[in-house]
Amino acid sequence: GGSRGVEVIHLGPNLAACAPGANCGQSLAMRILVVGGGGREHALCWAISASPLCTKLYCAPGNAGIAQIAECIENVGAEDIPGQVALAQRLKIDFVVIAPDAPLVAGMADAFAEAGIKAWGPSKAAARIEGSKSFTKELCRANNIPTAAYERFTEIGPAEAYVRSQPLPIVIKADGLAAGKGVIIAETVEQAIEAVRDMLSGNRFGAAGALVVIEEFMQGEEASFFALTDGEHVLPLVGAQDHKRAFDGDTGPNTGGMGAYSPAPVFDAAMQQRTMDEIVLPTVRALAKAGTPFKGVLYAGLMIDAKGPRLVEYNCRFGDPETQVLMMRLKSDLVPALLACAEGGLKHLDLRWSSDAAITVIMATRGYPDSYPKGSEIRGLDEAAKVEGVQIFHAGTKAGPDGKILANGGRVLNVSAMAPTVEEARARAYRAIDLIDWPEGFYRKDIAWRALKS
Ligand code: AMP
Ligand code: GLY
Repeated sequence: GGSRGVEVIHLGPNLAACAPGANCGQSLAMRILVVGGGGREHALCWAISASPLCTKLYCAPGNAGIAQIAECIENVGAEDIPGQVALAQRLKIDFVVIAPDAPLVAGMADAFAEAGIKAWGPSKAAARIEGSKSFTKELCRANNIPTAAYERFTEIGPAEAYVRSQPLPIVIKADGLAAGKGVIIAETVEQAIEAVRDMLSGNRFGAAGALVVIEEFMQGEEASFFALTDGEHVLPLVGAQDHKRAFDGDTGPNTGGMGAYSPAPVFDAAMQQRTMDEIVLPTVRALAKAGTPFKGVLYAGLMIDAKGPRLVEYNCRFGDPETQVLMMRLKSDLVPALLACAEGGLKHLDLRWSSDAAITVIMATRGYPDSYPKGSEIRGLDEAAKVEGVQIFHAGTKAGPDGKILANGGRVLNVSAMAPTVEEARARAYRAIDLIDWPEGFYRKDIAWRALKS
């Protein structure tokens, strides 16, 4: 464990133009607010707090781990748009980083723009890339971006007829945000029709299901790719893979993610170039042309097979838990890159990455992703954090009395580690987990198995 050493020289020509002795550090010094309170936000705060550009870091609502490196404002929720704007005004914030999808899709970036406060994250119009699956599918169709074949429906009759005409399995998606539960992979016609009826009748997912996308089931290996953009220029980050199922062997129910690692062997330099050329760049151009430039990070969920990458979906924000491994590997200062997304000038920036592998293993409360208790005590975190190369991000914790750390959610800890090989990174993460005393928690023991198969 330990503090994060950041390379500060990597600011690009625009910022490097500040000659030594010039007062640029002073004039760029910023008070930064991160919106959110999970493991992704802890990792972002960890990177931002290491930046010489950040003089004071706040996080709202934050969590017990974030509180060790930022001042948390617990009573302002991540989705409370007026509350976050008022908070930023009161704290005289210079730059806000909006990390989660829900406030972005609801227009938080627009609200900050109206208030005259600089903020990172796409506008409501650009966030439709995540907020509406049909919007993204139509954008892909209009721009020849490779993705699953699909049709969209608002009426049950035609949707059923379409399902019956297509091969199985078939994928049914609610158009809007449905907390990760709006995707049904149907193995039978009956399941598919039940999912369609459920969504279109408005019983499950409400308005998010008033329109459904029915699409081809794609075979292949999934990977996540991230690229920053200022609306015009694109700065590729790196690839990662996550594990969405709760249990070993990628079995059990879907979760928000039980672990991740980077680099992802399936996503090599050639695959990254193809993804940029065939998927990301046409998307950024199309959104700019439509008058809704995307400023922030594009998270492309990909399906990769022998023919190349295809888009599964876009998210309008950093991945969780992928961000935890990205921030471990990032050697450059994150803040100038985030600023450049908001202000333009991303083409002058370059980021440096460690060639080491990073892994994160999620410790969740037993019962997750269904119901689980809150408030159990976690011991041994300090010892675990001392394992070489290990960084522990908190995803759902709360400070208890006497300095105790209490579980406060489903996903609770992201035990992350870096090492020259993925084998060693994984060994380090599990060594740290062995030192954590939390009987109420569980974790997968096979994170990164795809990167280890030979
Ligand atoms: P999403 O909520 O869109 O991320 O979808 C959740 C998961 O469903 C994805 O990570 C994929 O594993 C799977 N999925 C979604 N769409 C497809 C598809 N067209 N073909 C195969 N798997 C899919
Ligand atoms: N890693 C999955 C997500 O962030 O949506």
